[in-house]
Amino acid sequence: MKFTMTLEEKASLLSGKDFWFTKAIPRLGIESWMMTDGPHGMRKQKASAEMVALTDSIPATCFPSGAGFASTWNPALVAEMARAMGIEARAEDVRVLLGPAINIKRSPLCGRNFEYLSEDPFLAGEIAKAHIEGMQNVGVGASVKHFAANNQEKFRMAVDAVVDERTLREIYLPAFERAIRGAKPWTVMCAYNRLNGTYCSQNQKLLTDILRDEWGYDGVLVTDWTACDDRVAGLVAGQDLEMPGNGGVNDRLVVEAVRSGKLDESFVDRAVERLLLLQERATGNHTAPEFDPEAHHALAKRVAAESAILLKNDRAVLPVAHGKKVALIGEFAKKPRYQGSGSSHITPTRLSCLADALTVTFPDLAYARGYSVESDVPDQALIAEAVSAARAADVAIVCAGLTDIYESEGFDRQHMRLPASHVALIEAVAQANPATVVVLSNGAPVEMPWAPRVPSILEAYLAGQAGAEAIADIIAGKVNPSGKLAETFPIRLEDTPCYLNFPGTPQRVEYREGIFVGYRHYDSVKREVLFPFGHGLSYTTFEYEDLAVSGTIHPDGTGTVTVACTVRNTGVVAGKETVQFYVSPKDNEAPRPEQELKGFTKVSLDAGESARVSVSLDARAFSWYDIDQGAWRVSAGRYEIRASSSSRDARLVGEIVLEGSYRQKKRWYRTDTLSEVLLYPELRKEAEDTLKFIHSKFANASRPGTAEDLMMETMFLEMPLRGISQFIGPEGEDYLTRLLERLNA
Ligand code: BGC
Repeated sequence: MKFTMTLEEKASLLSGKDFWFTKAIPRLGIESWMMTDGPHGMRKQKASAEMVALTDSIPATCFPSGAGFASTWNPALVAEMARAMGIEARAEDVRVLLGPAINIKRSPLCGRNFEYLSEDPFLAGEIAKAHIEGMQNVGVGASVKHFAANNQEKFRMAVDAVVDERTLREIYLPAFERAIRGAKPWTVMCAYNRLNGTYCSQNQKLLTDILRDEWGYDGVLVTDWTACDDRVAGLVAGQDLEMPGNGGVNDRLVVEAVRSGKLDESFVDRAVERLLLLQERATGNHTAPEFDPEAHHALAKRVAAESAILLKNDRAVLPVAHGKKVALIGEFAKKPRYQGSGSSHITPTRLSCLADALTVTFPDLAYARGYSVESDVPDQALIAEAVSAARAADVAIVCAGLTDIYESEGFDRQHMRLPASHVALIEAVAQANPATVVVLSNGAPVEMPWAPRVPSILEAYLAGQAGAEAIADIIAGKVNPSGKLAETFPIRLEDTPCYLNFPGTPQRVEYREGIFVGYRHYDSVKREVLFPFGHGLSYTTFEYEDLAVSGTIHPDGTGTVTVACTVRNTGVVAGKETVQFYVSPKDNEAPRPEQELKGFTKVSLDAGESARVSVSLDARAFSWYDIDQGAWRVSAGRYEIRASSSSRDARLVGEIVLEGSYRQKKRWYRTDTLSEVLLYPELRKEAEDTLKFIHSKFANASRPGTAEDLMMETMFLEMPLRGISQFIGPEGEDYLTRLLERLNA
């Protein structure tokens, strides 16, 4: 079709007609179609709303936001959720829903963490893959976003994220890689920010070298809304669709650039081909499906129930037995905080609140407002009223968290504290009633200086329109909580690895903590945390038995290691456990995190029941990105494999020894060292012979076992090879010349 299109027509296809629609070419039967937000439900602006009208959209099911649904550790459930979102989109003739949003949580302060999934790229990648598959299976495209290194809101549209190659490969790209290779999203959305000096929207390395050439991506690369800087450079770098399109200004630039010879038309054709492929996918089957909003509400409740994380439950304060006197405290119980602000904001089809939902089981519950959602200043009268309600009850449930103004797309938090009015209320209620439960509604970690005085804490995140019903079921014991943290809750902001380098200056943020993000940092430096990555309690207990590690990874990267163990529900109620498998390399040739998540499985077990769970680990699970080789590599040596209930709760530990990957042959120079030569098994003998040669020239120079001897030995191994000549003279120079010839043969 592109052959019958004029240049103007082709260029016109490459930018939006308006905020949400692509352009049509009626003469060729090309339709205009809609894409819209977002990651946890559809935000389709009302027909009247042409530009940004964030809160004026038609009703759609509001599922828990990303921070919540990632905490389910349940890809199948996430796929079911995304499927429902896709069905709602189809019913409204929306062809692409702009999500999932999967940027790594570098700092707990990022205003958009409520939308994002995890601090861990493996978990984020697995959840994203399920999300994309679930949605695309019903014929609605995903747009995995924001590619890449968009880890803060502050300065997001201009800042240059300076990220070293290894960190990019090991932390900020793998979730995208996993999702894109595994689920083939119809579109990928590039981020606003620059990456290492170049806007992501025109970053050749990111959009073509990595995304297209390495990962084999054939879909459409859409800009984040207004992220296009230099349209022509963007096209060359691999960008396809500019959104929202600026009234055709850039279409004309593209045409001019081709006509003046500045831009090869093949770049336009390439983007048009991808657009046409998307067009084909998007117009596949668009009969509007029937769906039952009540069923989707019930699904939103199920997702919320698995999203909630029981952080603490001393003396088994939860669940609350039927018939107990309950005081429900805090205005969030009537005005829930259930979603975040910005482009993901949904008009829900319904909205539950805890005051109503809990009354079903506890009809006599007493409600006290405790604070006003409008004010951070503690209101002593409201607190006094709450305290007396708490005193008169068997159990006091305090609803606390962050109000809208604390976290949103577009800005970051300044600190990790709760509003002072919530903190004062929690402290007062906990003093009045030892059986106090705090239910938190927030999109990202908060400090909890009050935690030692509160026996039970339930993290609900932003639980969506049915969240309150799920929380009520957990409180009443109708649902056994099974969420696990997809991020670490640090004790203090100052403990976070990027504390000194976040958010940088308006034009530049340096990711100086490197690969040590989240638990990779806390575990490596043995820092105490408030609640670790992977943590989450249950009303039952689980025991792990019989770890088995089998298989191997071959030097050419083939092979798999299978890890299996048995989990037993040793309590008296049914429950779900997520078994987490971490790999901890023991013989490091480069700095490595203490451990990394490489597999997980969630199992549902009746009381007394047990199940065998297993995961299969490929070469990547053991690899690090070796920038010298420009490749992923497994180091030779020992690896501990842990079957854990959280990152800080390894239940079973096994070990495997791997041979390590072949290294690609490199060219050897006088500036290389013998210690590098030694890393290549096939060159080992050369290295040893060379050492012997050097020693023979320094006979009796030092006594074995002395500091001098160690110094010489270390120096010979670590000096540039030219040292052979410099220490020994002409004979050394001859030796060196021949050595380099042999190494490079
Ligand atoms: C956000 C995207 C969103 C787009 C359209 C941008 O500001 O960063 O996530 O999809 O707007 O609303």
